[in-house]
Amino acid sequence: MKMGKIRQLDESLANMIAAGEVVENMASVIKELLENALDAGAKNIDIHVANYGLKEIRVEDDGEGMDSEDLQLAFKRHATSKIRAHHDLHHIVTLGFRGEALPSIASVSALTIESSTGTTEGRRMTLKNGKVIEDRPAPPRRGTTILVKDLFYNTPARLKHLRSEQREFAAMVETVQHAALSHSAVRFSMQHNGQSVLNTTGRGDVLQVLHAIYDKHTVQHMRHFSGKNAYFSIEGYAGLPTLTRSTRKHITLVCNQRPIRNVAVSSTILDAYKSYLPIQKFPVVHLEIKTDPLLIDVNIHPQKQEIKLSEITSLKQLMLETFATMFKHEQLIPDVRKSPEPRFSHPKLSYQATSPHEAMPHVVEENDASNTQHDERASTDLNVEPSPKRRIRLPDFEYVGQALGTYLIFQNDEGLHLIDQHAAAERIRYEAYLQAMSRPSPTIRMLLLPLPISLGADEREAFRGQAASHLKHFGITIVEEDGQLALQEVPYWFPEGQEEHYTDQVMAAIQEGLTPDKATLLDKLAIDLACKHSIKANHHLTRSEIDRLMHDLDQTHNPFTCPHGRPVIIRLSIQELERFFKRVM
Ligand SMILES: Nc1ncnc2c1ncn2[C@@H]1O[C@H](COP(=O)(O)OP(=O)(O)OP(=O)(O)O)[C@@H](O)[C@H]1O
Ligand SMILES: [Mg+2]
Repeated sequence: MKMGKIRQLDESLANMIAAGEVVENMASVIKELLENALDAGAKNIDIHVANYGLKEIRVEDDGEGMDSEDLQLAFKRHATSKIRAHHDLHHIVTLGFRGEALPSIASVSALTIESSTGTTEGRRMTLKNGKVIEDRPAPPRRGTTILVKDLFYNTPARLKHLRSEQREFAAMVETVQHAALSHSAVRFSMQHNGQSVLNTTGRGDVLQVLHAIYDKHTVQHMRHFSGKNAYFSIEGYAGLPTLTRSTRKHITLVCNQRPIRNVAVSSTILDAYKSYLPIQKFPVVHLEIKTDPLLIDVNIHPQKQEIKLSEITSLKQLMLETFATMFKHEQLIPDVRKSPEPRFSHPKLSYQATSPHEAMPHVVEENDASNTQHDERASTDLNVEPSPKRRIRLPDFEYVGQALGTYLIFQNDEGLHLIDQHAAAERIRYEAYLQAMSRPSPTIRMLLLPLPISLGADEREAFRGQAASHLKHFGITIVEEDGQLALQEVPYWFPEGQEEHYTDQVMAAIQEGLTPDKATLLDKLAIDLACKHSIKANHHLTRSEIDRLMHDLDQTHNPFTCPHGRPVIIRLSIQELERFFKRVM
């Protein structure tokens, strides 16, 4: 009889293939082992890593453990204690649920496991290539210890693809940090080659975990926030906008105690900070979301980290409101840092004076106030004390004069304040434009004569399709007569004489596919308009203009930064001045 060509893969080969998805690097091995320990209800987890994890990774927990029978089953594929039926998938409350991790790890390493429920004799097994090579009784110590050696020894291609040892190790540390942040009531300790890498107390205090991860300065510049609506409650710590990083890695997200990745959530955080942070700078934020497990889907990616959230709009709104409230309560004026070379006349922390024709002031990179003041600020600084209840607008101060045609100088008993008049005007106009544009029904200006506009072939196509209704949404009406397109109505805030230019901008944005997110487009236009129409540097302001500017600035939601995230106001405190002049040392 002729045999067919299809064969069932032997179990260890099947496990190895699955391992390609489940454990793609050393950090994912640690992640899976920590998840298992946490699911077992461990209160103490000790991690030992040797030679960046390539030699061995050991995770020891004091969770519920496994009896002898379960231990055997744990290495079968799809064997899990965490879900039983189809509907459980919609209501996942454990970190693991696939029954894939242990067989996968065992198929690409030499793995020894010792476990006991504490009531009966324990069991110790060693597996190589997924096959049991040693099996014997162990003491009845409650909990589980797993030792993973020679990871990826039998998958040389994977080994070759690992990034440098340091980077792999950094990713492992990050994984442990995320686990510790998501479970502050569990004590974690991690050692590398016998040296301590992370230690948390397990007292349920997230701030303590943040202290264990970040330096003192960073944590001092983070503020607690919390908020709640019908679907979600959120809580966490967010860095003041003066605390910036050059990558978004310091935004950690946790949902129902699972460290997650979710683009919608992280970009909402960036949105909340948008007009406070300089371009290409990112905040430090730890956000915990709690919601009904029914609203989340974890089963969309083999790593269980990407999750899909229902009611995301409601979450975004809650986040934006909570962050806005937090910023409102914070003193956001950066202090001038202590200068090693006291030279007051040198405007080293401010913008370079710009010519009136230059569209935007140019930031002096190395001396950018937002960089300097977070590096070496004395920890005795008044700003670092939490000030949750005070609602701080612009301080009360008295006008001293205008300097360099660009800065307005004010004083009060805290010291001198310098306001960049261009940045201030930009902030005011930006918020005014945004408000005007965001009205539900745009106020329209009818053009006396329809203004002929020329569109490229593709724009014409787009216009005939979807674009016309999008334009209408913005308050732009284009009519077509004898093949000629003409502008008939525009929103009233389009500057006169520039109707075509702004229509072009809107069209371009629509073409780029920005339409679904009208807010982003409006924001971009508002920044653009604010920047072009604000007072420039080197322009002398009269006293009444200054009063007006300060009044309007005080009315804005955020008087402290321009829409590009650069500071509007900086402070030179009296203490600072006294130090400059060596009145105090
Ligand atoms: N540290 C541990 N303490 C107690 N039981 C454990 C531990 N690790 C694993 N187990 C048991 O072994 C089973 C298999 O673990 P494994 O990690 O392979 O799958 P899972 O956690 O159920 O799902 P996933 O593949 O998503 O991680 C678990 O369901 C659990 O019952
Ligand atoms: Mg697991």
